[in-house]
Order: sequence, then C-alpha cells, then structure tokens
Amino acid sequence: MPAPTPSTATFLVVANRLPVDRSIDEAGNVSWRTSPGGLVTALEPVMRKHGGAWVGWHGAPDEVVETFEHDGFTIVPVPLSTDEVEEYYEGFSNATLWPLYHDSVAFPEFHREWWDAYQSVNRRFAEKAAEIADEGATVWVQDYQLQLVPQMLRELRPDLNIGFFLHIPFPPIELYLQLPWRRQILEGLLGADLVGFQTVGGSRNFLQLVKTHTPLKVNRDAVEMPDGRQSVSRAFPISIDTQGFRDLANSPEVIAMAEELLDDLGHPETIFLGVDRLDYTKGLRQKVRAFGELFDSGELDPSKSVFIQVATPSRERVEEYVRLRNDIDLLVGRINSHTESLGRAPIVYRHASFGRDTLAAMYRIADVMVVTPLRDGMNLVAKEYIACHASDDGALVLSEFAGAARELKQAYMVNPYDLNGLKSTLVKAGSDDPAEKRRRLRALRKQVNTHTIDAWADNFLTALTANRAL
Ligand code: ADP
Ligand code: G6P
Repeated sequence: MPAPTPSTATFLVVANRLPVDRSIDEAGNVSWRTSPGGLVTALEPVMRKHGGAWVGWHGAPDEVVETFEHDGFTIVPVPLSTDEVEEYYEGFSNATLWPLYHDSVAFPEFHREWWDAYQSVNRRFAEKAAEIADEGATVWVQDYQLQLVPQMLRELRPDLNIGFFLHIPFPPIELYLQLPWRRQILEGLLGADLVGFQTVGGSRNFLQLVKTHTPLKVNRDAVEMPDGRQSVSRAFPISIDTQGFRDLANSPEVIAMAEELLDDLGHPETIFLGVDRLDYTKGLRQKVRAFGELFDSGELDPSKSVFIQVATPSRERVEEYVRLRNDIDLLVGRINSHTESLGRAPIVYRHASFGRDTLAAMYRIADVMVVTPLRDGMNLVAKEYIACHASDDGALVLSEFAGAARELKQAYMVNPYDLNGLKSTLVKAGSDDPAEKRRRLRALRKQVNTHTIDAWADNFLTALTANRAL
C-alpha cells in the first residue's frame, strides 16, 4: 500500500507550544485545553485568519499524536520524551534562557546536557517544518525555545521564507555574553530572513552582538550573510485581538458573570486585579507585599477594597516556580489571617486557570488593573484589560519594565522594586480624580485600538516578504 502523502502548507507557525494542550485524567479520559501564555493568545487569531499549519508540542511527554484540524488550521504535534521535557523544556528553555533573558531575576543555570537536548529538539522541529512546508512557503518560528530552528531549517530548505519572533526580552549584551553557547544562538537566529523583537532595545542589543561577536557585516538593521542573503532585525511590538476581547466583554453572558462576581464580592468600592502566569518575572511577591502593607496600615480598608489575584499554574516542576508558589501561598495566608473582619478576605487569591469569559468579566469590574513584572517582553494582560474594561473609570498600574510600557504611556507607571512607590501609586490609581482617569484610559484605548494583532502580523509578514524580494 502506498504511504499516505503528508499534508503540506504554504504558511507555518513553529512554536514550542501548540494552541491546545492534551491532558489525560486518572480514568484515562483525554481532553484538549487552551494552552497558557501570551504567545498562544496572540497567535491563535493570526492562524484562524491565515490558515496553514501550527507545528508544536502538545504538552504531554512520551506521546505521539497525529496531525489534526482545529479552528480552520492544521495542528502538527511534535513529540517530546520525558528526558527531553526535563532537559530541553524545563532545563535549557526555562531554567537557563528564561531567567537569563529576563535580566537574571532568578539565577540561570548552565548545563551541557541541557544544551545537547536543546539542539536535538530544535533539529526535530526544523525537520518537521521542512517536511511539511510547500516549495517557497513562509515559516514563522516563535520564541526562545526554538532559536536554532531558523538556521537548521535554512540548511534543509533554502527555498523557504523564514521569519523569527522573540516574545520575551532580548537581554542586555553583558548578560547575553554569559551564555556558553552565545555564538551558536546568534547564528541560529541569523538563519531567518527577518528577526523580530518586542522592543527597539532588544533588536539593538542583538545587532550589536552580531557586530562584535561574529565576522559578519551589519548595515543598519541588516546583516550581510555569506550566502548573499540579508537577515534583517527590527522591533514589532505584539498585541491582541482587541475587537475580539471587547466583543467578548460586552456579551450578555460576560455581563451577567460580572454582575454575579460583584455580588459574590459584596460590591466593594474598589477592586484591584492581578492576572498572571505564576512566574517569578511577574513581580507577584512585590505586588502581594504592597497590598499586605496597605491593608495592614489602614491605607486600604478591607471592608471597602479587595485585591483579586489569579495566577495560572506554570512550569510546575521547575524549582524556582515551586519556591514562588509556596512563597505566595504563605504571604497571602499571612496577610489574610491578620484581617480583623470575619467577612471576605482582603486578598482573594486563586491558583488556577480561568476561561477567557471569566477573565473578561474580571477585567470589566476591576477598577485598578495591577501589572507589575520585574521584566516582561510585552505583557498582553495589560492590553486585554484596556480592551475589556467597559467604562471610563478604570486605571492601569503598569511596571516600567514591561515591554508594554513603551506603548501604554498613559498608565500609572511603577518601579516594582520600589515598594513605597508602588504602594502610593496603587492608592493614587484607586482614588484619582475621575477626569484624570478618563483622560488616561481614553489615550490607552486609542493605542490598543490602532495597534492590534492583525496589524502586528501584517507588518511582520509584509517586511518578511519585502526582504525576501530584495
Ligand atoms: P506571559 O505570556 O508571560 O504569560 P502575557 O501577559 O503576555 O504573559 O500573557 C498571558 C496570557 O495568559 C494572557 O492572554 C492572559 O489572559 C492569560 N492568563 C493569565 N492568567 C490567566 C489565568 N489565571 N487563567 C487564564 N488565562 C490566564
Ligand atoms: C510565555 C512564552 C511562551 C510560552 C508561554 C507559556 O508567553 O513567551 O513561549 O508558551 O509563556 O509558558 P509555557 O512554558 O507553559 O509554554
């Protein structure tokens, strides 16, 4: 019998994560859930619009899953063994690169075996993309887990149009230089025709490193490659499906959920909200501590104000994440146990993932959205809040260390390391003059309305095609 022809695609996204995660419960029932994180939130609408194939891992080790159709595009699962999950995903990706690229806010670990696993898994992703890409197809490789894929793929398939986008910060030069495999990663990225970063600073650091640590010639934002190509590097700040989020927040179901939530909370005067993956880059310790002190000192009255923090479980077997989870449980418990009232706790903390409708309901009712990362590539939660908060009385408190701070300039900016500054900004955002809040929120809305995920994808793909045509 002839082997079935593998399906091919003219547009491919290659990312470590698929948009859906496979999980199996104790009874052996299989279910698929939306995967966590900003990459999936941003790229899902892009794929729904463009169609094509999404190549990625389905989130469960040691399982081979067949290609299937989902929401108008093809899902192409790449398997990872238990050892690869440990060494490539939890190890090199999330205990070496993730902390290093986020200003070393946790200590990055360097292990040679992890690097070996990173190379072999990157090769598997490159081979899978090479197998299913049509002649001359566009392949868009995503994020820090797959930085070697552009070069590996180019060697296999020089006919392809290869783009790469880094969703997290590209670090300062002196931090990047700690990486024992710094040259290989630069070369890996340069396999792409276009390398996109969240900020101008990121692309500047990258180009400077190419200039100083490779023999290649850099011409403004273009690197002259030995095969006659140019590899261009530029900033493309990512965004969300603004209209999609707004429509969801204004749907009758979400409005009803928001009312129910308000009833459950006892209609407090001021609702502060945090929505994050449980990650040490998100400044959760600082945020919780600030609220603890504000409730303790009486600057915030627990009978009138509440701080809701929802945190999606993330990378739960990596040591720093285990530590963070325990720290937050302890801190929140201690603060809530101090309160004198027997009613609702001042901090409502849930370590869980919520549906997008529930998040939209929370954004609707939150008077102050609190986004305090110590370092973040962009932070889509900040943009989701602006899209979803229906009235003009909302306020966004935003860390100056989030990529989003470059665009959302009218937010109440904070340095999350400055506890007193953070506390006073939280109080100000909660009690500011309504006209001032309105002015800020309108300016923020204008930004998020005009800089959408559609515009982001169009800008990137147009620049990619233009570069290839040179
Ligand atoms: P990161 O990509 O680092 O997680 P972003 O803020 O860019 O940070 O994106 C996080 C995404 O995950 C957002 O789309 C947000 O809505 C979603 N998210 C965060 N916390 C939760 C939660 N508790 N339940 C469901 N989704 C969440
Ligand atoms: C961030 C990263 C993504 C990652 C997501 C969730 O958004 O930039 O690449 O997919 O976090 O993390 P996880 O490790 O669960 O995929």
